[in-house]
Amino acid sequence: MKIWDVTVVGEIYIDHVMSGFETWPKPGEEVASDHYMREIGGGCAITACGLSRLGKSVNLVGVIGNEDAPWLERRLADFGVTDQALRRVSGPTGVTLSVSTREDRSFFTHIGVNHRLSNELLAPETLVTLTRARHVHFAMPLPRALAAMILPALTEAGCTSSLDVGYQPAWLTDETNYATCQTVDYLLPNEQEAALLSGGETPADFFAFARKLRMRSGILKLGARGAMSDVDGVTIAVSPPKVVAIDSTGSGDAFDAGFIDALLEGANEEERLRRACICGALSTRVPGALGGLPNREELWSIYEKTYGS
Ligand SMILES: Nc1ncnc2c1ncn2[C@@H]1O[C@H](COP(=O)(O)OP(=O)(O)OP(=O)(O)O)[C@@H](O)[C@H]1O
Ligand SMILES: [Mg+2]
Repeated sequence: MKIWDVTVVGEIYIDHVMSGFETWPKPGEEVASDHYMREIGGGCAITACGLSRLGKSVNLVGVIGNEDAPWLERRLADFGVTDQALRRVSGPTGVTLSVSTREDRSFFTHIGVNHRLSNELLAPETLVTLTRARHVHFAMPLPRALAAMILPALTEAGCTSSLDVGYQPAWLTDETNYATCQTVDYLLPNEQEAALLSGGETPADFFAFARKLRMRSGILKLGARGAMSDVDGVTIAVSPPKVVAIDSTGSGDAFDAGFIDALLEGANEEERLRRACICGALSTRVPGALGGLPNREELWSIYEKTYGS
Protein backbone atom coordinates (compact mmCIF):
# COMPACT_ATOMS: atom_id res chain seq x y z
CA MET A 1 0.00 0.00 0.00
CA LYS A 2 1.32 3.45 -0.91
CA ILE A 3 1.08 6.02 1.87
CA TRP A 4 3.25 8.81 0.46
CA ASP A 5 3.86 10.25 -2.98
CA VAL A 6 7.59 10.46 -2.30
CA THR A 7 10.12 9.33 0.28
CA VAL A 8 13.39 11.26 0.25
CA VAL A 9 16.51 9.71 1.78
CA GLY A 10 19.77 11.41 2.71
CA GLU A 11 21.98 13.24 5.18
CA ILE A 12 20.32 15.94 7.23
CA TYR A 13 22.11 19.05 8.40
CA ILE A 14 21.48 22.14 10.41
CA ASP A 15 23.02 25.00 8.45
CA HIS A 16 24.34 27.98 10.39
CA VAL A 17 24.67 30.73 7.80
CA MET A 18 26.74 33.81 8.71
CA SER A 19 27.16 36.51 6.09
CA GLY A 20 28.16 40.14 5.68
CA PHE A 21 31.73 39.87 6.97
CA GLU A 22 34.03 42.62 5.72
CA THR A 23 37.18 40.48 5.75
CA TRP A 24 38.41 36.96 6.46
CA PRO A 25 40.07 36.66 9.84
CA LYS A 26 43.64 35.46 9.91
CA PRO A 27 44.32 32.39 12.11
CA GLY A 28 43.82 33.46 15.72
CA GLU A 29 41.69 36.55 14.83
CA GLU A 30 37.96 37.06 15.25
CA VAL A 31 35.50 38.97 13.07
CA ALA A 32 31.84 39.72 13.76
CA SER A 33 28.70 40.20 11.71
CA ASP A 34 25.05 40.64 12.64
CA HIS A 35 23.70 38.51 9.75
CA TYR A 36 22.90 35.03 10.99
CA MET A 37 20.32 32.46 9.97
CA ARG A 38 19.74 28.85 11.03
CA GLU A 39 18.13 26.60 8.46
CA ILE A 40 17.52 22.95 7.75
CA GLY A 41 19.97 21.73 5.11
CA GLY A 42 21.23 18.79 3.13
CA GLY A 43 20.00 18.03 -0.38
CA CYS A 44 17.41 15.58 0.89
CA ALA A 45 15.72 18.16 3.13
CA ILE A 46 15.65 20.75 0.32
CA THR A 47 14.14 18.31 -2.18
CA ALA A 48 11.63 17.11 0.43
CA CYS A 49 10.54 20.68 1.23
CA GLY A 50 10.36 21.50 -2.50
CA LEU A 51 8.07 18.56 -3.20
CA SER A 52 5.89 19.38 -0.23
CA ARG A 53 5.53 23.03 -1.37
CA LEU A 54 4.33 21.65 -4.70
CA GLY A 55 1.62 19.69 -2.89
CA LYS A 56 3.09 16.19 -2.76
CA SER A 57 2.95 14.09 0.43
CA VAL A 58 6.56 13.62 1.48
CA ASN A 59 8.25 11.33 3.97
CA LEU A 60 11.85 12.00 5.01
CA VAL A 61 14.28 9.21 5.96
CA GLY A 62 17.48 10.21 7.73
CA VAL A 63 19.15 10.37 11.13
CA ILE A 64 19.06 13.35 13.53
CA GLY A 65 20.21 14.04 17.10
CA ASN A 66 17.63 13.88 19.91
CA GLU A 67 18.45 17.34 21.19
CA ASP A 68 17.88 19.03 17.85
CA ALA A 69 14.74 17.06 17.05
CA PRO A 70 12.15 19.60 18.31
CA TRP A 71 13.55 22.44 16.16
CA LEU A 72 13.94 20.22 13.08
CA GLU A 73 10.40 18.85 13.52
CA ARG A 74 8.97 22.37 13.70
CA ARG A 75 10.87 23.49 10.62
CA LEU A 76 9.83 20.44 8.58
CA ALA A 77 6.24 20.97 9.75
CA ASP A 78 6.36 24.51 8.26
CA PHE A 79 6.71 22.77 4.91
CA GLY A 80 4.37 19.86 5.70
CA VAL A 81 7.11 17.20 5.45
CA THR A 82 6.43 14.01 7.46
CA ASP A 83 9.16 13.33 10.02
CA GLN A 84 7.94 10.03 11.50
CA ALA A 85 10.60 7.98 9.72
CA LEU A 86 13.46 10.19 10.91
CA ARG A 87 15.61 8.20 13.33
CA ARG A 88 16.39 10.19 16.50
CA VAL A 89 19.58 9.11 18.24
CA SER A 90 21.93 10.54 20.84
CA GLY A 91 24.70 12.71 19.44
CA PRO A 92 24.81 15.85 17.30
CA THR A 93 22.82 16.33 14.10
CA GLY A 94 25.05 17.01 11.10
CA VAL A 95 26.01 20.67 11.04
CA THR A 96 27.36 23.02 8.39
CA LEU A 97 28.75 26.44 9.13
CA SER A 98 28.59 28.71 6.09
CA VAL A 99 30.58 31.94 6.31
CA SER A 100 30.63 34.57 3.59
CA THR A 101 32.05 37.96 2.74
CA ARG A 102 30.81 39.85 -0.33
CA GLU A 103 33.30 37.95 -2.53
CA ASP A 104 33.71 34.50 -1.03
CA ARG A 105 32.00 31.78 0.90
CA SER A 106 33.46 28.87 2.88
CA PHE A 107 31.83 25.89 4.53
CA PHE A 108 32.79 23.87 7.58
CA THR A 109 30.91 20.60 8.06
CA HIS A 110 30.55 18.09 10.87
CA ILE A 111 28.78 14.95 9.68
CA GLY A 112 27.37 14.17 13.14
CA VAL A 113 24.91 11.28 13.40
CA ASN A 114 24.55 11.13 9.59
CA HIS A 115 27.30 8.50 9.75
CA ARG A 116 24.56 6.13 10.92
CA LEU A 117 22.47 6.56 7.77
CA SER A 118 23.86 3.48 5.95
CA ASN A 119 23.08 1.29 8.97
CA GLU A 120 19.61 2.74 9.10
CA LEU A 121 19.09 1.82 5.45
CA LEU A 122 20.22 -1.76 6.11
CA ALA A 123 17.34 -2.31 8.54
CA PRO A 124 14.54 -4.42 7.01
CA GLU A 125 11.87 -2.08 8.43
CA THR A 126 13.43 0.85 6.57
CA LEU A 127 12.99 -0.98 3.27
CA VAL A 128 9.34 -1.58 4.12
CA THR A 129 8.96 2.17 4.77
CA LEU A 130 10.59 2.99 1.43
CA THR A 131 8.24 0.72 -0.52
CA ARG A 132 5.26 2.65 0.87
CA ALA A 133 6.00 5.62 -1.41
CA ARG A 134 5.23 5.89 -5.12
CA HIS A 135 8.71 7.31 -5.72
CA VAL A 136 11.92 7.13 -3.66
CA HIS A 137 14.61 9.79 -4.11
CA PHE A 138 18.13 9.33 -2.73
CA ALA A 139 20.13 12.52 -2.18
CA MET A 140 23.41 10.86 -1.24
CA PRO A 141 26.33 8.83 -2.61
CA LEU A 142 24.35 5.61 -2.18
CA PRO A 143 26.86 2.83 -1.34
CA ARG A 144 26.90 0.05 -3.95
CA ALA A 145 25.95 -2.74 -1.51
CA LEU A 146 22.90 -0.79 -0.35
CA ALA A 147 21.89 0.09 -3.90
CA ALA A 148 22.14 -3.59 -4.90
CA MET A 149 19.78 -4.48 -2.09
CA ILE A 150 17.31 -1.60 -2.21
CA LEU A 151 16.85 -0.57 -5.86
CA PRO A 152 15.59 -3.92 -7.22
CA ALA A 153 13.29 -4.24 -4.20
CA LEU A 154 11.80 -0.84 -4.97
CA THR A 155 11.18 -1.77 -8.61
CA GLU A 156 9.58 -5.01 -7.43
CA ALA A 157 7.30 -3.02 -5.12
CA GLY A 158 6.20 -0.73 -7.95
CA CYS A 159 8.18 2.34 -6.83
CA THR A 160 10.16 4.52 -9.21
CA SER A 161 13.54 5.81 -8.02
CA SER A 162 15.96 8.70 -8.52
CA LEU A 163 19.46 9.48 -7.31
CA ASP A 164 21.31 12.77 -6.85
CA VAL A 165 24.80 11.76 -5.73
CA GLY A 166 26.05 15.35 -5.39
CA TYR A 167 29.69 16.31 -5.92
CA GLN A 168 31.28 13.09 -4.64
CA PRO A 169 34.38 12.38 -6.79
CA ALA A 170 35.11 9.04 -5.10
CA TRP A 171 31.62 7.70 -5.90
CA LEU A 172 31.47 9.21 -9.38
CA THR A 173 34.79 7.76 -10.49
CA ASP A 174 34.26 4.28 -9.02
CA GLU A 175 33.18 1.89 -11.77
CA THR A 176 31.44 -0.41 -9.31
CA ASN A 177 28.74 2.28 -9.12
CA TYR A 178 27.95 1.93 -12.84
CA ALA A 179 25.55 -0.88 -11.89
CA THR A 180 23.70 1.62 -9.67
CA CYS A 181 23.49 4.10 -12.57
CA GLN A 182 21.92 1.32 -14.64
CA THR A 183 19.38 0.23 -12.02
CA VAL A 184 18.10 3.57 -10.77
CA ASP A 185 15.32 5.03 -12.92
CA TYR A 186 16.62 8.63 -12.95
CA LEU A 187 20.16 9.79 -12.21
CA LEU A 188 20.31 13.57 -11.70
CA PRO A 189 23.89 14.88 -12.03
CA ASN A 190 25.08 18.40 -12.75
CA GLU A 191 27.66 19.09 -15.46
CA GLN A 192 30.70 18.66 -13.23
CA GLU A 193 29.40 15.41 -11.75
CA ALA A 194 28.48 14.03 -15.18
CA ALA A 195 32.02 14.78 -16.41
CA LEU A 196 33.54 12.82 -13.52
CA LEU A 197 31.20 9.92 -14.21
CA SER A 198 31.69 9.74 -17.97
CA GLY A 199 35.31 10.90 -18.13
CA GLY A 200 34.22 13.30 -20.92
CA GLU A 201 33.72 17.05 -21.02
CA THR A 202 30.56 17.75 -22.97
CA PRO A 203 26.86 16.85 -22.65
CA ALA A 204 27.30 14.68 -25.78
CA ASP A 205 30.06 12.72 -23.99
CA PHE A 206 27.77 12.13 -21.04
CA PHE A 207 24.84 11.05 -23.18
CA ALA A 208 27.09 8.65 -25.13
CA PHE A 209 28.24 7.22 -21.80
CA ALA A 210 24.63 6.87 -20.57
CA ARG A 211 23.65 5.08 -23.79
CA LYS A 212 26.66 2.78 -23.61
CA LEU A 213 25.80 1.84 -20.03
CA ARG A 214 22.15 1.46 -21.06
CA MET A 215 21.14 3.82 -18.27
CA ARG A 216 17.40 4.26 -18.07
CA SER A 217 17.69 8.01 -18.56
CA GLY A 218 20.31 10.65 -19.30
CA ILE A 219 19.60 13.96 -17.59
CA LEU A 220 22.02 16.81 -17.08
CA LYS A 221 21.65 19.97 -14.95
CA LEU A 222 23.47 22.93 -16.46
CA GLY A 223 23.11 25.78 -13.96
CA ALA A 224 21.97 29.06 -15.55
CA ARG A 225 21.84 27.30 -18.94
CA GLY A 226 19.04 24.99 -17.74
CA ALA A 227 19.04 21.28 -18.40
CA MET A 228 19.33 18.64 -21.10
CA SER A 229 18.05 15.15 -21.52
CA ASP A 230 18.61 12.37 -24.00
CA VAL A 231 15.62 10.19 -24.82
CA ASP A 232 16.23 7.37 -27.29
CA GLY A 233 19.03 9.31 -28.99
CA VAL A 234 17.05 12.57 -29.22
CA THR A 235 18.44 15.43 -27.15
CA ILE A 236 16.07 17.88 -25.47
CA ALA A 237 17.45 21.18 -24.14
CA VAL A 238 15.44 23.44 -21.83
CA SER A 239 16.32 26.96 -20.68
CA PRO A 240 15.24 28.15 -17.24
CA PRO A 241 13.07 31.22 -16.73
CA LYS A 242 15.07 34.43 -16.37
CA VAL A 243 15.66 35.30 -12.74
CA VAL A 244 17.95 37.57 -10.78
CA ALA A 245 19.97 34.80 -9.15
CA ILE A 246 21.19 35.78 -5.69
CA ASP A 247 22.15 32.43 -4.18
CA SER A 248 22.31 29.20 -6.17
CA THR A 249 22.75 26.97 -3.09
CA GLY A 250 20.38 24.03 -3.40
CA SER A 251 19.15 24.90 -6.90
CA GLY A 252 19.97 21.36 -8.02
CA ASP A 253 17.91 19.93 -5.17
CA ALA A 254 15.00 22.22 -6.04
CA PHE A 255 15.35 21.03 -9.66
CA ASP A 256 15.05 17.43 -8.43
CA ALA A 257 11.80 18.32 -6.62
CA GLY A 258 10.31 19.87 -9.77
CA PHE A 259 11.37 16.89 -11.85
CA ILE A 260 9.89 14.28 -9.47
CA ASP A 261 6.66 16.27 -9.04
CA ALA A 262 6.18 16.31 -12.83
CA LEU A 263 7.17 12.65 -13.14
CA LEU A 264 4.49 11.64 -10.63
CA GLU A 265 1.91 13.47 -12.72
CA GLY A 266 2.84 11.62 -15.89
CA ALA A 267 4.36 14.68 -17.62
CA ASN A 268 6.53 14.00 -20.68
CA GLU A 269 10.30 14.53 -20.54
CA GLU A 270 10.27 18.08 -21.89
CA GLU A 271 7.62 19.19 -19.40
CA ARG A 272 9.52 17.48 -16.56
CA LEU A 273 12.67 19.42 -17.45
CA ARG A 274 10.74 22.69 -17.73
CA ARG A 275 9.06 22.25 -14.36
CA ALA A 276 12.40 21.20 -12.84
CA CYS A 277 14.14 24.26 -14.30
CA ILE A 278 11.44 26.57 -12.93
CA CYS A 279 11.96 25.17 -9.42
CA GLY A 280 15.74 25.39 -9.74
CA ALA A 281 15.66 28.94 -11.06
CA LEU A 282 13.11 30.24 -8.53
CA SER A 283 15.11 28.78 -5.65
CA THR A 284 18.01 31.11 -6.54
CA ARG A 285 15.96 34.29 -6.04
CA VAL A 286 16.56 34.60 -2.31
CA PRO A 287 19.42 33.76 0.06
CA GLY A 288 19.24 30.18 1.34
CA ALA A 289 17.79 27.15 -0.36
CA LEU A 290 14.23 27.03 0.97
CA GLY A 291 12.78 30.54 0.82
CA GLY A 292 12.45 30.67 -2.99
CA LEU A 293 10.85 27.26 -3.55
CA PRO A 294 7.65 27.75 -5.55
CA ASN A 295 4.19 26.48 -4.71
CA ARG A 296 1.91 25.01 -7.39
CA GLU A 297 0.28 28.26 -8.35
CA GLU A 298 3.60 29.97 -8.87
CA LEU A 299 4.98 27.00 -10.81
CA TRP A 300 2.14 27.13 -13.33
CA SER A 301 2.08 30.89 -13.59
CA ILE A 302 5.81 30.95 -14.46
CA TYR A 303 5.35 27.93 -16.73
CA GLU A 304 2.81 29.78 -18.85
CA LYS A 305 4.89 32.96 -18.94
CA THR A 306 8.07 31.10 -19.90
CA TYR A 307 7.02 28.27 -22.13
CA GLY A 308 3.40 29.10 -23.06
CA SER A 309 0.58 26.77 -21.99
N1 LIG B 1 21.66 31.44 -12.33
C1 LIG B 1 20.58 30.69 -12.63
N2 LIG B 1 19.56 31.21 -13.37
C2 LIG B 1 18.49 30.45 -13.69
N3 LIG B 1 18.35 29.18 -13.32
C3 LIG B 1 19.32 28.61 -12.59
C4 LIG B 1 20.49 29.31 -12.21
N4 LIG B 1 21.29 28.49 -11.49
C5 LIG B 1 20.63 27.30 -11.44
N5 LIG B 1 19.46 27.37 -12.09
C6 LIG B 1 18.46 26.30 -12.27
O1 LIG B 1 18.69 25.30 -11.30
C7 LIG B 1 18.99 24.05 -11.94
C8 LIG B 1 20.02 23.29 -11.18
O2 LIG B 1 21.19 24.05 -11.07
P1 LIG B 1 22.66 23.44 -11.13
O3 LIG B 1 22.94 22.90 -12.46
O4 LIG B 1 23.55 24.52 -10.61
O5 LIG B 1 22.53 22.24 -10.10
P2 LIG B 1 23.55 21.74 -8.99
O6 LIG B 1 24.94 22.08 -9.43
O7 LIG B 1 23.24 20.33 -8.70
O8 LIG B 1 23.16 22.65 -7.75
P3 LIG B 1 23.42 22.38 -6.19
O9 LIG B 1 24.24 23.53 -5.75
O10 LIG B 1 22.08 22.39 -5.56
O11 LIG B 1 24.10 21.04 -6.07
C9 LIG B 1 19.41 24.41 -13.37
O12 LIG B 1 19.09 23.34 -14.23
C10 LIG B 1 18.58 25.64 -13.63
O13 LIG B 1 17.29 25.27 -14.06
MG1 LIG C 1 23.58 19.21 -6.94
